[in-house]
Amino acid sequence: QSSPPIQQGGPCLEMDICRAKGSSPGFKVALLGASGGIGQPLALLLKMNPLISVLHLYDVVNTPGVTADLSHTDTSAVVRGFVGKDQLEASLQGMELVIIPAGVPRKPGMTRDDLFNINAGIVRTLCEGVAKCCPNAIVHIISNPVNSTVPIAAEVFKKAGTYDPKRLMGVTTLDVVRANTFVAEVLGIDPKLVKVPVIGGHAGITILPILSQVTPSSSFTKDEVLYLTNRIQNGGTEVVEAKAGAGSATLSMAYAAAKFADATLHALKGEAGIIECAFVASQVTELPFFATRVLLGRNGVDEIFPLGPLNDFEREGLVKLKEELKASIDKGTAFTAKK
Ligand code: NAD
Ligand code: LMR
Repeated sequence: QSSPPIQQGGPCLEMDICRAKGSSPGFKVALLGASGGIGQPLALLLKMNPLISVLHLYDVVNTPGVTADLSHTDTSAVVRGFVGKDQLEASLQGMELVIIPAGVPRKPGMTRDDLFNINAGIVRTLCEGVAKCCPNAIVHIISNPVNSTVPIAAEVFKKAGTYDPKRLMGVTTLDVVRANTFVAEVLGIDPKLVKVPVIGGHAGITILPILSQVTPSSSFTKDEVLYLTNRIQNGGTEVVEAKAGAGSATLSMAYAAAKFADATLHALKGEAGIIECAFVASQVTELPFFATRVLLGRNGVDEIFPLGPLNDFEREGLVKLKEELKASIDKGTAFTAKK
């Protein structure tokens, strides 16, 4: 028998002097890996989102403390904590959006693929829980290597008979956030004004910023293109090296994940015209998954936009990235088949 979740609310709940009639209308969101470097700041940003009425925090450690702390913030979302694998299913019941940053991060000298052996199994187990307890939820995968963990999730859902490609998304928003920031620096303008489509996947050369399609329309010198492409592709490694063994991007990732979650929830509510880049099941190339600009809607991914016109440099980048991305996708797909 698993112990009950840690509830938001102080002694007034137990003393029966709480006048709450239940949670306000809004979305129910679960965060799996909530005690980690990404999980904690992301939990805070989600708790501040007025579209969320219930926030479930699940991790294998430390959620009681994170939940108690967060529950004292005066925003309306109700927060509940769940700890240990016995409480995974309870954390997922009734959830409409599940965000997964659970797993180990890189240390200097590692590639994202070096995380596969540990994170593949974690993502598989968590997605088995999703398939069982909230099969209609939208799922955002953050755990690396995203190029393989998204195919793993897809296979788990296929096996369970719950797969809907519209509802499964690999989170590549950090690549876009970085690209917007670095391009704005070069152009000398406010990053809020900049939109850079980033396509492909989420590792090294599979991250391909399409600088020829930047908004506002801008031209770059050859040196600027090389500098920007290299910096965007290696943004994660830049942070891993600066943190010198203490992990990878957490604050910028929490910001990016909160932004993507907010866009997804606005679209679920019925708001029109919400476009984001994400790594999804796709037919824009011969690969089964690919990151491009997608239109989000009431059911998740409503439309996948084509790549649009690419210049020679981008076309070359596309050819190179497909080989590496295909291998990572195949590795993820094969992992679940092996079980
Ligand atoms: P972290 O080690 O600080 O936190 C990970 C959390 O996951 C920990 O609290 C840990 O207890 C928890 N966890 C481990 N196994 C679990 C399980 N079976 N169920 C639930 N929770 C479990 O790491 P972090 O810095 O938060 O990074 C997490 C992941 O996100 C890493 O794989 C990292 O590479 C990835 N990441 C992805 C992006 C992206 O752009 N998609 C960006 C940054 C980091
Ligand atoms: C990132 O892009 O920051 C993440 O994928 C983490 C990493 O390992 O680089």
